[in-house]
Amino acid sequence: MGVQLGVNIDHVATVRQARYALNAGSINVEPDPVEAALAAERGGAVGITAHLRQDRRHIGDVDIFRLKEAVATKLNLEMGNSPEIVDIALKVLPTDVCLVPESREEVTTEGGLDCVTNHSALEQTLKAMRDAGIRVSLFIDPVPAQIAAAASLGAPVIELHTGAYAEASGSVRDAELVRLLEAARLATEAGIQVNAGHGLNYTNISPILTLPRLVELNIGHSIVSRALAVGMETATREMVALLG
Ligand code: PXP
Repeated sequence: MGVQLGVNIDHVATVRQARYALNAGSINVEPDPVEAALAAERGGAVGITAHLRQDRRHIGDVDIFRLKEAVATKLNLEMGNSPEIVDIALKVLPTDVCLVPESREEVTTEGGLDCVTNHSALEQTLKAMRDAGIRVSLFIDPVPAQIAAAASLGAPVIELHTGAYAEASGSVRDAELVRLLEAARLATEAGIQVNAGHGLNYTNISPILTLPRLVELNIGHSIVSRALAVGMETATREMVALLG
């Protein structure tokens, strides 16, 4: 089996909020992220990812509970390590949680989580999640110190941040790919499952598939964008086909 695809449906909710953030009671509210999630599953996604941000700028609490009910594959809740969102995760009980850094100003998740500086706060959340039967993934930059910190936290999964790779070209991109390869090797040696994501699209994905023991990619923006032309199911199927 090839690398598995998790589809991030946040930006379906972004379109909805563009019109309905201030008018949620309208009878016309659309598009529905749950409908998009089901279409992505029909297209071959093995999981659905959604980010409940503190400012609720796209996905809202109701979306998360509806996704938990509707998703037949698995729900991966992306979230910052804040007490409010941790409480919600412990109520929703998604299959997976991916912990990300979060600041209100950013357009999207910028750097990876700093597992060195935030070690003790992460330790508590990892324990709470583990006790609730939720698997935790840490979204980190491909840096050896972060892999070591993830290992010392006992994280079962990391998601390597591919944003720097995706934003680069030429020899800089080659160097970013080498950093990702090395990080994936270190994580595998430490017994941690390797996922990756951020900024990946139909044209930059292929070198990423050379990461050793890569299990899952989480891709959102490019699939939702492609879905505008061909629909969510086909956009997902096209990406699945590239993953082999
Ligand atoms: N993985 C994580 C941890 C993310 O924060 C994001 C962006 O929400 C993604 C994957 C998906 O990134 P993109 O939308 O660029 O495909």
